[in-house]
Amino acid sequence: MTTENGFFVNRVAVIGLGLIGCSWVKGLRVRGGVGEVIGFDRNLDSMELACQSGIIDRYAASPAAAVENADLVIVSVPILSIRPVLEALAPALSVHAVITDVGSVKGSVSADVKAVFGETFGRFVLGHPIAGSERSGVAATDEHLYCRHKVIITPETYTDPQALQLVTQAWLAVGAEVESMTVNHHDEVLAATSHLPHLLAYSLVDTLANSHENKEIFNYAAGGFRDFTRIAASSPEMWRDIFTANRDHLLATLDLFNKDLQQLREAIVENDTTTLMGVLTRAKAARDHFSNILARRAFVEPMKTSSLSYLVQPAQSLSGTFRVPGDKSISHRSIMLGSLANGVTEVTGFLEGEDSLATLQAFRDMGVVIEGPHRGRVTIHGVGLQGLKAPANALYVGNSGTSIRLLSGLLAGQQFDVEMSGDESLSKRPMGRVADPLRLMGAIVDTEDGGRPPLKIKGGHALKGIHYHLPMASAQVKSCVLLAGLYAEGQTSVTEPAPTRDHTERMLKGFGYDVQVNGSTVTIQSGGELTATSIDVPADISSTAFYMVGASIASGSDITLQHVGINPTRIGVINILRAMGGNIEVMNEREVGGEPVADIRVRSAQLKGIHIPEDQVPLAIDEFPAIFIAAACAEGETVLTGAEELRVKESDRIQSMVDGLNVLGVAAKGTQDGAIIPGFGANGCFGGGVIESHGDHRIAMSFSMASLRAEAAIIIHDCANVATSFPGYVELANNAGLQLEEQGEARGD
Ligand code: S3P
Repeated sequence: MTTENGFFVNRVAVIGLGLIGCSWVKGLRVRGGVGEVIGFDRNLDSMELACQSGIIDRYAASPAAAVENADLVIVSVPILSIRPVLEALAPALSVHAVITDVGSVKGSVSADVKAVFGETFGRFVLGHPIAGSERSGVAATDEHLYCRHKVIITPETYTDPQALQLVTQAWLAVGAEVESMTVNHHDEVLAATSHLPHLLAYSLVDTLANSHENKEIFNYAAGGFRDFTRIAASSPEMWRDIFTANRDHLLATLDLFNKDLQQLREAIVENDTTTLMGVLTRAKAARDHFSNILARRAFVEPMKTSSLSYLVQPAQSLSGTFRVPGDKSISHRSIMLGSLANGVTEVTGFLEGEDSLATLQAFRDMGVVIEGPHRGRVTIHGVGLQGLKAPANALYVGNSGTSIRLLSGLLAGQQFDVEMSGDESLSKRPMGRVADPLRLMGAIVDTEDGGRPPLKIKGGHALKGIHYHLPMASAQVKSCVLLAGLYAEGQTSVTEPAPTRDHTERMLKGFGYDVQVNGSTVTIQSGGELTATSIDVPADISSTAFYMVGASIASGSDITLQHVGINPTRIGVINILRAMGGNIEVMNEREVGGEPVADIRVRSAQLKGIHIPEDQVPLAIDEFPAIFIAAACAEGETVLTGAEELRVKESDRIQSMVDGLNVLGVAAKGTQDGAIIPGFGANGCFGGGVIESHGDHRIAMSFSMASLRAEAAIIIHDCANVATSFPGYVELANNAGLQLEEQGEARGD
């Protein structure tokens, strides 16, 4: 018999019959991975109990007797007992035996192994399972203890590959995930993630128990005390050993913590609520992130899939009145300018999508105190144009092109170096378009080959104003240069080849910064300052586009989209759908915080194919995936030209859409700068099929709308990134009339 991964070892000796060693051998045993198990423990009762409970077959009188003829020896004794145990068993160890341990500190065990077996003994594999419980001893044995838990192996350069393989397989056999790192790194990481928290828990309980009436504490210190100090009920001997064995790393992390604690103390003394909020909000964000990771891990195993798909059944029509989430472009900019303003900026309607949250996190990482988001409300404690601090690590902006491109402009003007990276899709997108003008301004910007992220920006280089002619119609590049212009000597101006979204210009003005707009040229002068304000983010017209298209193509539809931003540089989708015969009514036009807003009613209409006017392309740049779906349902052919920018979005949107339409039976063709889409008209429909969204949120949402005119189910792969721009999409879409079901995992690790 072997385990599921084909593991079998004839004889295992386990020295130390506690929770950790017993759970491993029991796990092997119940899965058929071991022939015979011999145990040793200095406590006779433990040995007898282990025997009675079938964890070991027999026990031995000494460590040496236990390891005779063993193929695998597991040493699971407290850290400081490891050396005497190794000395005791060494003479009896057979020449082929592989030996491993489970200690929480690896440096000290490595030294013990060297002392006992010599400098380059290859058959000892150092390991550490990250699992356990406050319960201990044979009685707590749990054969599932290691399922989906990490085990860290810290091989030395001279570790025998076969020995490493055996120990790795023995862990995999009991359901563990095995990772490898150096001894030093392990001890450093564990000092921070495990040893310091235990030290603090013990210390807090001791302090409180000594300085107050015991009864008071234990009667009233419920939630917080209980949660924080749970681990102080662990074995004191074990932790004494760990603290002693990992002395240097533990002291380093303790000193860091002490310093930060002093700062918190200072903030309380000074009534400095901003610093307090800074620590609390940053910590909450980090803890929430951690909870998400934990929640996902629990989800991964049973689903056995690595990404999220949509299964969309044919649906009839859309109806209802709703408000889609906040505008992504405006949300990004609200965080950026709010952070650089003097004073406190209140944002409402903020998009709680992954892209804008990436920007928010980046500013937190640069020391800005940001409260929220909570139901779209964010409070930003601005630090002024010169107030950002160097982040401790590279800024990670996920899928967000807007974050990396706009931030690169701002960061070029700072005194500190910074690196920005993103996910797989972002890592393929062109950044030369921002690096080039920034270099002209005197910035030092490094990219990977082909001008791809990560971007490395050197701080402390004086920028000078330039006049830049944008080589492409891009609001991101325009904004990048203008934001760098806040820090550049003199005047910075940008001329664009066609109008692009002007949220940066509008919002700069909203923060009291002088911006001159003259035809297609925008100019700013450095030396001003931003003054905090309130921002009401309207609903994102780009997110309404899917619904506008859905309602247009599905007969009997009637929807009203509320509080939609209808900035003239964003309304290409309305203009194009109207030109195709769409029935779109713009109602209750008003202005909110410098941006025009309206409610939009869309009813079904028979669309007709058109040649999309090129001047509308930049005004509808994010809406083409949805417009392609509309075009396929139109009477006659739709031709798109002048849209090569679509090839460098979150995916190559021309290719992704043409491929998907082909799968659904529409003979669309891509061209270098657009596409030709034959429409099937009033009597036609899409077939069913499997679509690849290539992780592009807008491709995924667009094809879900095709179900309103499909004769069979559509499956769309790789949809997790819908969360970048449209949290709650599935629920809203189903409320409006789609029949959309999620399948698989929300996001890969
Ligand atoms: C954006 C500008 C556009 C758009 C993107 C958001 C912005 O990109 O596609 O989703 O917020 O400035 P380009 O400037 O690259 O066209």
